[in-house]
Amino acid sequence: MNRAVCPGSFDPVTHGHLDIIGRAAGLFDELIVAVGVNPSKSRLFGPEERIALLERAVADLPNLRVAGFTGLVTDFCVEQDAQAIVKGLRAASDFDYEMPMAQMNSALTGVETVFLPTSTRQSFVSSSLVKEVAAFGGDVSAFVPDFVLEALTSRLPRRE
Ligand code: PNS
Repeated sequence: MNRAVCPGSFDPVTHGHLDIIGRAAGLFDELIVAVGVNPSKSRLFGPEERIALLERAVADLPNLRVAGFTGLVTDFCVEQDAQAIVKGLRAASDFDYEMPMAQMNSALTGVETVFLPTSTRQSFVSSSLVKEVAAFGGDVSAFVPDFVLEALTSRLPRRE
């Protein structure tokens, strides 16, 4: 079975993530969407919330599961018997950030990284931008599922 891990912070999941996840699910027998849990990093949503939002967002994809992980993504891949990591690339800056990680992950355990270009409609969407725009009252409804929008609206303090 070809199994891949799609890791990320998903704070929160956006349509950009869902574009990559949906297309990656079509390439592998099983896709594990892996939510990085790093207690030293402050996030808007806690790990359980990020996982719950993702599970709701991918409920219609049969060959996919969502899991949290701590520590190295390569250790998680070995534990799950996954042969590949899938990452989305929006722009050259993503490539510069992702390439050394892909090479390090390959050197550590031989797990290979598969890069998928984001669709042009999603290439500017990121969780950080969505949070910033939403915090100032901007309309981010085109970039996240409805229930993520609700979670964002109730979580974010409204800035002026
Ligand atoms: O959505 P993000 O913030 O780009 O996700 C980053 C994540 C969680 C995928 C990345 O930080 C990660 O893989 N963390 C696990 C720790 C690890 O393996 N670090 C070494 C990478 S070479």
